[in-house]
Amino acid sequence: MTDLKWWQTAIFYQIYPRSFADGNGDGSGDFPGMIAKLDYLQALGVNAIWLSPHFPSPNWDCGYDISDYCGVAPEYGTLADFRRFLDGLHQRGMRLILDLVLNHTSDEHPWFLESKSSRDNPKADWYVWADTPPNNWQSCFDGEAWTYTPERGQYYYHYFMQQQPDLNWHSPAVKQAMWDAARFWLELGVDGFRLDAIGTIYEDPDLTPHDAPVNLAELRRLSETASTPAEIQRKDKYWEDLFRHQIGQPGLHALMKELRAVVDEYPGDRMLVGEDEDIAYLGEGEDELNIVFNFPLMRADRITPDHIRRNQRERLALLDELPVRGWPCNTLGNHDSSRISTRFGDREHEVELARLNAALVLTLRGTPFLYNGEEIGMTDLIITEPGQLRDTMAVWYHQQMIADLGVDPAEAALRAGEMTRDKNRTPFQWADAPNGGFCPPGVQPWLPVNPDFSAGVNAADQETDPDSFLNYYRRLIAVRKASPALTGGEYQPLDEHAKDYFAFLRTTDDQTVLVALNYASKPVQNTAPLPGSILRKLFSSHHRPADTAAGDLSLAPFEVYIAEVGR
Ligand code: GLC
Ligand code: CA
Repeated sequence: MTDLKWWQTAIFYQIYPRSFADGNGDGSGDFPGMIAKLDYLQALGVNAIWLSPHFPSPNWDCGYDISDYCGVAPEYGTLADFRRFLDGLHQRGMRLILDLVLNHTSDEHPWFLESKSSRDNPKADWYVWADTPPNNWQSCFDGEAWTYTPERGQYYYHYFMQQQPDLNWHSPAVKQAMWDAARFWLELGVDGFRLDAIGTIYEDPDLTPHDAPVNLAELRRLSETASTPAEIQRKDKYWEDLFRHQIGQPGLHALMKELRAVVDEYPGDRMLVGEDEDIAYLGEGEDELNIVFNFPLMRADRITPDHIRRNQRERLALLDELPVRGWPCNTLGNHDSSRISTRFGDREHEVELARLNAALVLTLRGTPFLYNGEEIGMTDLIITEPGQLRDTMAVWYHQQMIADLGVDPAEAALRAGEMTRDKNRTPFQWADAPNGGFCPPGVQPWLPVNPDFSAGVNAADQETDPDSFLNYYRRLIAVRKASPALTGGEYQPLDEHAKDYFAFLRTTDDQTVLVALNYASKPVQNTAPLPGSILRKLFSSHHRPADTAAGDLSLAPFEVYIAEVGR
């Protein structure tokens, strides 16, 4: 327990800067806004922040198209503001990791402007160029993966949208430039990086064409209409076939080792978390990334006890087999995925299920990552007016549906609103006030605010309500932080056949904690017998006495119960 690193005991919280807090009242989040919310973050109890990109960007992909890796987007503030934010976090005992986008830059980055200017400039080989499109590869955001530039009379490759040209990572100069950018922030004192889309860094050197019988737009549409198991299996296979030669190619592990060596030049256990689920990125244990996400946990329509147990069994076994035992990392939401409340709700018990799932992420073994807004129960906002979409991949798909796929406009608008990531990126709801308190009345926020702020989904109202989502998260976080077993203990499932509830122990030499999550709308009458003789309540979503005799247990519908097991 004592030798756990900070990133193993931390509870991470992802801030999406455009939507978190607007300090200057222009409708977009910024550093002054984030600085003003430092006390909020501290009171929530999280102790590390993952900040989505805050760099200058033309914002075709909301900051994931970077035009200067060592700057701060002017709409977010200045480097001095950034430092104040970082210092404010450190003063409060919190850490900060930044988003490092390695695969691609913005097409407005000076590196790309130079690279595309001629075939023989000093950066001519910094991107991936070809005289003619060498194959039928697709971009995962906007169709053809090869885009023409008249300046060079050549095509460049982009796995994401055409404003995001892929860097050529075979060039030593590219590596140097990117490692220097990483060093810039490490020297300022940031505690590590979340590595964006690492699987896409290298391409198949043979440029083998894909053999999927569909293009991107067709496959998206096929995925929407697939309903039988055979159709679903088929579209899953097509997704794999479509991108097989563009992701997970050789070279990635050597590259991650290089990056790790750069990070390790700095004192203080700086860390790397990969946007990937493949534990191969943990390398030999000390030489690649520190953690990768347990994405398979969130890859489900519903979170059920069976799904969780299977996930934990498989995931923990994989980590245990590594030369140095791997550390898990759990999350159920981020800026790319439908919000927990909506996605894993059943439309009837959204709140209860979201609370159960929060308890799950905060009690499983491994570092939890929360996404801003989930702690107040924010839900997806479906944008029905295509003109309001900001997520370029959805704008593109909407236009494809109408122009190429012959989809009826009303249906196209609905589908675009459902597939866009805008729905889970709407401004944070700070109060029951115009614009949800995000920005001043009369100012148009960059994305529409979800009107459910006036139905209690806002931080100010929840602050004073002891039963609110916010206070529920605060209590759970405090319980985790205070418990050595929940923070660092082993995981042991109980009653593995229970369909309705998920119960497990977390154990260290000195503490055993029981976690029982009833995922059903009906009570559980008697669980299988529990170990120990007395249960000392640490947390309950319902009313329970402080101490109960162990033995077996009954659970109220959707109850979350956490107790220390005593002899
Ligand atoms: C990652 C980011 C996503 C972005 C993409 C391209 O998946 O999480 O938001 O669009 O990479 O950078
Ligand atoms: Ca602002």
